Parts: sequence; C-alpha cells; structure tokens
Amino acid sequence: MTVLVTGGAGYIGSHIVAVLAKSGIRCVVLDNFVNSDPSVLERLARITGAPVEHVRADLRERSVVVDTLRRFGVTDVIHMAGLKAVGESVGHPIEYYGCNIQGTISLLEAMQEVGVHRLVFSSSATVYGDPRYLPLDESHPTSATNPYGRSKLHIEEMLHDVARSSESWHIVCLRYFNPVGAHPSALIGEDPAGIPNNLMPFVAQVAAGLRPELQVFGNDYPTADGTGVRDFIHVMDLAEGHQAALQALPNRPGWEAVNLGTGVGYSVLDMVKAFEQASGVAIPYRVVARRSGDIAACYADPALARQRFGWHARRGLEDMCHSTWAWQKMRRSMV
Ligand code: NAD
Ligand code: UFG
Repeated sequence: MTVLVTGGAGYIGSHIVAVLAKSGIRCVVLDNFVNSDPSVLERLARITGAPVEHVRADLRERSVVVDTLRRFGVTDVIHMAGLKAVGESVGHPIEYYGCNIQGTISLLEAMQEVGVHRLVFSSSATVYGDPRYLPLDESHPTSATNPYGRSKLHIEEMLHDVARSSESWHIVCLRYFNPVGAHPSALIGEDPAGIPNNLMPFVAQVAAGLRPELQVFGNDYPTADGTGVRDFIHVMDLAEGHQAALQALPNRPGWEAVNLGTGVGYSVLDMVKAFEQASGVAIPYRVVARRSGDIAACYADPALARQRFGWHARRGLEDMCHSTWAWQKMRRSMV
C-alpha cells in the first residue's frame, strides 16, 4: 500500500504520516505549506527514521497530482489538504470554496485518470450543525452555517455522487470531532499561526506565558457548568482511526460517513482544570460573551467506527493535556 496524504505537513496529517510509517506503510505527502512549515517534514523524518517522500504543490495543479500518483505508484489517498478556519471562511468564501472544493475536484480528476479509487476524506462534526439530539450519530441531519462547513458538506455530497457513479470507488468521509494533543515525541503538534482560534492551543499559549489569559466564551449554556462541551479526541487516536479506515477500505465499496470521536463530552472549564493539572501551571481565565456561531454541546456516538474498522479512541484527557504541554515547550525551544 502506498498512501498519498494531501495536507500531510499539517497538524493532523503529520500525525497520520507518523502512525502509518511506523506500521511500515509508505506515505507520500503533497502540501503547498500554506498553513504549515516544511521543517515539519524534517521532524517527521526523525520520528519515522527515514526521509519523508513529498511533493510541494497546490492540489489544484492537477497535472502535478497525476504525476505524483503515477510516479509513486499510489494505491490509496487520504485527503486532508484544505483551509479550516471557520471565522476566516466567512470573510473569504471564494478562497475557501476555491481551495477546498476545486482542490477536491482536481484530486478526483487525477485519481480517475490514473485509476486510483480508494479515498479517505477529512470531514468534520461541523456538518451536523446545531445538534438536534446527542450523542451525534451518522444519521443525524446535516447542515452548515458558514462557508467552511458548507465546503465540507458539498465535498461529502460530491464524493457520494462519485461513489454512486461507478462500483470501483471506495470512499469514506471521517467526521472528526475536536482533535487535540500531540505526538509522544513532542516533535510535531498543532502550531497555529497568529492568535489560535481553538481552545487547546490557546490554553497552551496562556500556560507558556505567551498570552495573559484565556477568554471563556460564555458560561450560560445549558451544560453542567455553563461552558461549551465538546468531544476532544487525541490526535494519535484520530491518526490510528485513519489507519483502521484504510485497512477496512478494500472491503467497503461505495461511500460512507463515519464519526471519529470518543463519545465523551468535556466542558471548557474541565479542559482548563485538566491542563492545569498536567502542566502544573495556573491558567488565568475570564468569562466573556458567547462566540457567535458556537453551539452548547457536541459529542459523538462513536459506535459505527468500532463496528466498521474495529477502532475506538483509547487515550484520555490527561494524555491529551500532557502531550499538548510537552509540544508547546518543545515548540518554544525551537524558535
Ligand atoms: P492544517 O491546516 O494543519 O493542515 C492542512 C494542510 O493542508 C496544511 O499543511 C496546508 O498547508 C495544506 N493545504 C491547504 N490547502 C492546500 C492546497 N490547496 N494544496 C496543498 N496543500 C494544501 O489543518 P489540520 O487541523 O491538520 O486539518 C486537516 C484536515 O482536517 C482539514 O481538511 C480540516 O478541515 C479537517 N478537520 C480539522 C479539524 C481540526 O479541528 N483540526 C476538525 C475537523 C476537520
Ligand atoms: N473556546 C473558548 N475560548 C477560546 C476558544 C474556544 O472558550 O479561546 C470554547 C468555544 O466557545 C467552544 C470550545 O471552547 O465552546 C471549543 O472551541 P474550539 O474553537 O476549540 O472548537 P469548535 O468546537 O468551535 O470547532 C472545532 C473546529 C471546527 C470543527 C469542530 C468540530 O474549529 O473546524 O471543532 O470538529 F468543525
């Protein structure tokens, strides 16, 4: 098996490459580094013990994608490349649809031309919109409230049509909940440019003294402590979920969407407390108004992933926080 990982230099992609390479699966990364740094590949090589085969290109350069699939004899694709900041997508919809949707079409055309038909796509729990019930199973209705979410939904639907068009396609859309944590080596992890949008990188930067305090977006939600509840999943579990999905794919023709979550929801304040314990550092925080577009609670029913791939999340909150903190300290020592 040779796997093309589009967006493989990014946060989740780099962990997937680390996990697959450890199992002896050959990976080829295609990335334009719009939201990552080429040095990730050097650090990945230290983890895997061999140089990471890679192509620096935009996914929309279809001829390069065709050439990459042929040159490396790719059998399977994990498609992670895309833009992912919800707020930014509202102000830059054309850029988001261009990158995410045109990028996917370019990839599909290339795969069709070369005859590669097995695809794992990075989708998101955002496609469930505001939950009508919890936990969220895969038959929960889908909707989107911003261009990022809508691009994920459009891509899922497009992939469904592609799978209906010919029996040769094997496509799985993995709907991630909230990935956090880092590789145990602390050599790779989430490395957002500028002010982090997401909770855990922000908390880690407060702990490191890079930011004075965390703003907690609302404590008047209908949850146990009033703060938002999410299904935080360790990025290593998420990466192993991709490996399990890849292994199951040859026996699963057609299209399917499968949640990757833990099934457990933790609140913002739960995460702050867990991070304080793991790091031994107090996290100052202040409750401010709700963030526009946020939902109260979101967590997965993870049963289908266990049934289809024999996979379930194994790592707990402590490991998520410890590894985030170890990576945060390592990252600071690198700059
Ligand atoms: P990331 O930004 O760290 O990684 C994405 C990678 O894709 C980056 O290395 C970037 O340089 C690359 N890329 C972007 N556009 C490209 C293009 N046109 N051509 C080539 N490379 C391109 O993001 P991540 O957190 O690792 O997320 C990976 C995927 O998972 C994304 O599709 C994202 O939407 C999805 N996802 C992420 C989360 C999350 O919370 N992190 C949750 C659900 C889904
Ligand atoms: N939060 C704060 N302060 C912050 C950042 C976040 O209180 O500085 C709160 C939010 O209000 C929310 C919770 O922490 O209650 C989690 O927020 P994140 O921004 O970390 O994550 P979201 O659940 O909003 O969204 C993330 C990704 C989406 C993805 C979704 C589901 O950003 O792209 O998970 O996978 F769709």
